Amino acid sequence: MSVAQERRKKVTTHVLSEMKMRDEKIAMLTAYDYSLAKIVDSAGVDVILVGDSASNVMAGWETTLPITLDQMIYHGASVVRAVQRSLVVVDMPFGTYQGNSKEALTSAIRIMKETAADAVKLEGGSEIIESVERILSAGIPVMGHLGLTPQSIHKFGTYTVRAKQEEEAEKLIQDAHLLEDTGCFGIVLEKIPASLAGQVAKEVKIPIIGIGAGNQVDGQVLVLHDMLGINQEFSPRFLRRYHNLFAEVRGAVGNYIEDVKSVDFPNEREQY
Ligand code: KIV
Repeated sequence: MSVAQERRKKVTTHVLSEMKMRDEKIAMLTAYDYSLAKIVDSAGVDVILVGDSASNVMAGWETTLPITLDQMIYHGASVVRAVQRSLVVVDMPFGTYQGNSKEALTSAIRIMKETAADAVKLEGGSEIIESVERILSAGIPVMGHLGLTPQSIHKFGTYTVRAKQEEEAEKLIQDAHLLEDTGCFGIVLEKIPASLAGQVAKEVKIPIIGIGAGNQVDGQVLVLHDMLGINQEFSPRFLRRYHNLFAEVRGAVGNYIEDVKSVDFPNEREQY
């Protein structure tokens, strides 16, 4: 297969594993709606994450906890309708998989049936392993998420770097192995020291995608609205901004307001 054909091929979990084997980095971004997902997919991103960060970015909540399963399904289905090539992963929201593996399976089945996404993502390690096992047993691909897990923000108390202490780092390494052994196809590592993330990426065979986890991993993920500069309120050190869309959109809206007020818009050619 030529490089051009390879680039157009639908991304599967198997493709991601091959990418890791040949040391090709994986590019992952979030999207929550049809229009932006279409742009992100057509640009060639490998994985689109319908993140529960939609709770912050789309709904304006302070944490990811309030978003519901129905809302995640709405976002997931909107994204899937736009996507041709990228692998689509939908976050399981807080309260739909912790502590009850039967409910976890029911929630994951709803996500897969009602969105037609390719996989789900869950936060945590040994504490949620029964849920991971049960979801996998139904043939649903699962991505793990370790390090800073925003659904546990009330336990952590802050959004600072995780696993700097040996005990927490050890637990993270064990959890990564556990998720791999259980059958997860990949793991997101959020906001942990780069050397620890690199060690995990070396030790496990499944792809490790980092966010604030340095460059020794198998791929990177960012929140689309942060990297495009739509969301100006969030500026962690790991974030690279590729645009200042907030200023661009505000400028365009300002021009529109001026044109309406001055009756410059609509002109002769813009009316019937
Ligand atoms: O919800 C989300 O956007 C995420 C990423 C930060 C990895 O989980």
